[in-house]
Amino acid sequence: MTKSTKRATDSGRVAVVTGAGGGLGAAIVAQLVADGVRVMGLERNRDGLDALASRHGEAFIPYPLDLTRPDEIAAAFGQLRETHGGVDILVNNAGTCFMSEFPDIPADEFEAQMKINFSAAFHCCQAAIPMMAGRDGVRKIINISSNGAYNFDVFDPPHYRASKAALDTLTKDLARRYAADKIAVNSIAPAMTETPLFNVVSEDVLKAALAQMPHGRAMRPEEVAAWVGFLASPAGDICSGNVIILNQGRDVR
Ligand SMILES: NC(=O)c1ccc[n+]([C@@H]2O[C@H](COP(=O)([O-])OP(=O)(O)OC[C@H]3O[C@@H](n4cnc5c(N)ncnc54)[C@H](O)[C@@H]3O)[C@@H](O)[C@H]2O)c1
Repeated sequence: MTKSTKRATDSGRVAVVTGAGGGLGAAIVAQLVADGVRVMGLERNRDGLDALASRHGEAFIPYPLDLTRPDEIAAAFGQLRETHGGVDILVNNAGTCFMSEFPDIPADEFEAQMKINFSAAFHCCQAAIPMMAGRDGVRKIINISSNGAYNFDVFDPPHYRASKAALDTLTKDLARRYAADKIAVNSIAPAMTETPLFNVVSEDVLKAALAQMPHGRAMRPEEVAAWVGFLASPAGDICSGNVIILNQGRDVR
């Protein structure tokens, strides 16, 4: 039985998940739908959106867009306001890892990395927070960062690390700013998780990175998604302003 078919009673809560069609995004959608949340997926890959729509039925609202376009983000949240009146959970998950090495990083690659990994999340927060006003309970923003912002032994290039570090500073600022409004904001920073993003690195680099994982394997998308589900649940109400590192204990010294 898939998560979506054992969906809990509809909780009345509404979430937005960016990059919903990717490896981690699809697992996060499945987790939230199983927890009774209606999810709008923001994603540029229409095939990914179609697959989620046929898997989750009316619990999933597909919305194709380019997240590097602030006007398209504003239009998506505008539609959600019309149809659902607001939003309870935002998961800024969309991201990529462009791999040119410093100092030979083209300016347009640097801009693209920052736009998708940081600016898109910034604009989604700007759109979502006013729509969280007046909703029941503690509302949640969960930013998918990366262990690569903190572990300098692994392969990630500096513009990737910096984009995720910027995201985590946004997490802390918004957590502080909106604590009394009962909006909890956290980052989840995973290490190697088996998704199509693995294709950005060569086989040798991937093998070396996986060899460092203490459990002898990559993490699975649903393992990370379970933490998103935990933070989104009432158990997560008292947690805000944290960067939660998931890496099987790899970097403990
Ligand atoms: N996989 C890992 O090992 C790993 C480790 C650390 C952090 N992360 C983070 O997890 C998040 C999810 O990555 P993933 O591993 O599932 O990768 P993925 O490539 O499978 O998914 C990313 C999704 O984002 C979408 N996307 C990218 N640019 C977009 C744009 N401009 N507009 C709309 N959609 C866009 C893609 O279409 C894709 O579906 C990312 O933020 C990534 O940095 C992943």
